[in-house]
Amino acid sequence: MSPQTLRIVMNGVTGRMGYRQHLVRSILAIRDAGGVDLGDGRRVQVEPVLVGRNEDKLAAIAKEHQVNEWTTDLTKALASSPDIYFDAQVTSQRYTAIKQAIAAGIHVYTEKPTAETLDEGIELSRLARDAGVQVGVVHDKLYLPGLVKLKRLVDSGFFGEILSVRGEFGYWVFEGDWQQAQRPSWNYRAEDGGGIVVDMFCHWSYVLENILGRVTGVTAKAVTHIPERADEQGRTYKATADDAAYAIFELEGGVIAQVNSSWAVRVFRDELVEFQVDGTHGSAVAGLRNCVTQHRANTPKPVWNPDLPVTEPFRDQWSAVPDNADLDNGFKAQWEQFIKSVLGEGDHPYDLLAGARGIQLAELGLRSSAEGRRLEVPEIAL
Ligand SMILES: NC(=O)c1ccc[n+]([C@@H]2O[C@H](COP(=O)([O-])OP(=O)(O)OC[C@H]3O[C@@H](n4cnc5c(N)ncnc54)[C@H](O)[C@@H]3O)[C@@H](O)[C@H]2O)c1
Repeated sequence: MSPQTLRIVMNGVTGRMGYRQHLVRSILAIRDAGGVDLGDGRRVQVEPVLVGRNEDKLAAIAKEHQVNEWTTDLTKALASSPDIYFDAQVTSQRYTAIKQAIAAGIHVYTEKPTAETLDEGIELSRLARDAGVQVGVVHDKLYLPGLVKLKRLVDSGFFGEILSVRGEFGYWVFEGDWQQAQRPSWNYRAEDGGGIVVDMFCHWSYVLENILGRVTGVTAKAVTHIPERADEQGRTYKATADDAAYAIFELEGGVIAQVNSSWAVRVFRDELVEFQVDGTHGSAVAGLRNCVTQHRANTPKPVWNPDLPVTEPFRDQWSAVPDNADLDNGFKAQWEQFIKSVLGEGDHPYDLLAGARGIQLAELGLRSSAEGRRLEVPEIAL
């Protein structure tokens, strides 16, 4: 028996995230493996419908990957009774497109941030609830092997009482003049939806909420370290958005999370993001893939003496947490979970309200920075 096929309208597939992570590494990988295994012998197949602004680029992608349907007309794509609408466009275009998909009664899966303002984010969540469509927002960091292991440690009670978190995210993004930038130029223009606070605080919101506790207070300083950059055509432009943010998040239960996010920092770390969690009984450092721990019984007793060279091999005193599971690409794993939930098989909890909480944290972070003060993060409800 041939498997059921879900048609997925994918908007923004010529972009960095839309092409690599969502089309190639998720939907085409699922399609080429024969679909999603529903666990009871049944499989559901997927077929993308590519949507974008540039017909030639879409046609080239379609040809390279044997995709039959593509169009530059979103309205037409939505009118063709697809099962799911997916959005990986630039953030500024998302709200209108998702609204259109919900109005057409189509399930929605989307990149973050879900909209440009909290009001729009909440409105989308309300509209989806009222229309009865399923919604999912990319929460990819939760599926990273390193963070899966960190969550496992929290659930096991390994830490005792959790005291604090120190997160370090970032790398050097070239200015675009003498070496091409490795991120799109709109990321550095506030008027185009750019900025590291808007980009990363929605990630920190769901990472902290799902692993350590909801964020209840924020103090942040957002800055633009590199004021001028060169775009994809080599033209100089003014960077109007923040490229670094230094934040303190207070979590439910009293945990303090201090997270640095920067596109103007050089890496002297094992991974591009790392979180150190310290608790009364043990500590852990989790990155994208790896996670190491130190239990209180294995904790050395360093003595501060600047007159002597370092005697302890500190990094060697930590133990690796094993995978103990097949940890697939996080984007693909989340797609599979969302697809199953659309078919009524299992739960996909990361919805548009979770997406709105991410926008809320970004808005409050920017306000905290502008006003130079700590702000409460109130709970939002529909
Ligand atoms: N989950 C993650 O880790 C992650 C990482 C990076 C980006 N993102 C999100 O993914 C989305 C896309 O980011 P990206 O880095 O792939 O960007 P990108 O610039 O590489 O791609 C943007 C896409 O949007 C399309 N687009 C539609 N209307 C446009 C317009 N008016 N101007 C410019 N482009 C337009 C482009 O054609 C392209 O397909 C953003 O919302 C971003 O926040 C998520």
